[in-house]
Amino acid sequence: MNCVIIDCDPGLDDAVALLAAFGAKDLDVLAITTVAGNVKGDQTAINACIIREVAEPGSRVPVCAGAPRPLLRDPVTAEDFHGSTGLGNINFPDPELGQEQTHAVNKIIRACKDAKESPLTLIVTGPMTNIALALAMDPEIEDGIAEIVLMGGADTEGGNITPYAEFNVYADPHAAAAVFGSKLSIRCLSLDVTHDVRTTAERLAKIRDGKTPQSRVAGDLLEASCKLEFSANGARDAPLHDPSTVIAVTHPDLFKGRRARVEVVTDEGEQFGRTIPTFCDDGNVLWYESADSDAVFEALGHHLESVKWA
Ligand code: RIB
Ligand code: CA
Repeated sequence: MNCVIIDCDPGLDDAVALLAAFGAKDLDVLAITTVAGNVKGDQTAINACIIREVAEPGSRVPVCAGAPRPLLRDPVTAEDFHGSTGLGNINFPDPELGQEQTHAVNKIIRACKDAKESPLTLIVTGPMTNIALALAMDPEIEDGIAEIVLMGGADTEGGNITPYAEFNVYADPHAAAAVFGSKLSIRCLSLDVTHDVRTTAERLAKIRDGKTPQSRVAGDLLEASCKLEFSANGARDAPLHDPSTVIAVTHPDLFKGRRARVEVVTDEGEQFGRTIPTFCDDGNVLWYESADSDAVFEALGHHLESVKWA
């Protein structure tokens, strides 16, 4: 059983990632920690509570709100791609359970210190502010982290917020620099690979036709993502950004990449938030470059159809 904490900024694709993670039989979600990103920090925490209730009605998995703003830069959000609520303005019932009052950074520190005997996987699908703060507050937590599997960055694909920068890194480049520059083992799903994993109409229909409520909600979220992607930048078939991190944990063989060291441009200017991988055999980052996108969607559908719920 792979014990994970999911640090996220729900966000439509974060929401689908959460549904997949809760359905994955060999993942044990210890906590959801949230961060400001796609929408403001208070809203990402509310959205995480909403999706937790959809994923597992009555779930007691804690949701802990984290950093309400990036380390240094001015906050940026991405409502164009996620709607003003962050969940595509889809109506959801109010969740039974609210947030735990523990700050996300303290939750991450506590969980990692308790996990020294069997280190955790951190799945990170938003700006890396909480992770950077946790590492700065208590560097020893590295012993309790087996690896970080994150969505962020771009190299050959170029950025999705500026020509150079991908949103999660652009929203907090200083935090991203601290995480990539740590000694931690990281698997990075940048736009270089997520732009390969597209939500085509056929794949969307397959997800939506699933037999569980979670599949149907995931279909609604993915459809909203495709509509907003088209209105924001004219692209069809929204990339499956965040859910791909969960599939990379449960089905690592579906992804290929090279080891690298990753620098982040933190000087203000046109390349602010750019990620620069230098490929080397002893790099701490596995920089994914390709995926078997059909199989990724099949794995996503499998998690959403999990017997946990049927
Ligand atoms: O660039 C894509 C990333 O930014 C995804 O994590 C999406 O949710 C937004 O946070
Ligand atoms: Ca996200």
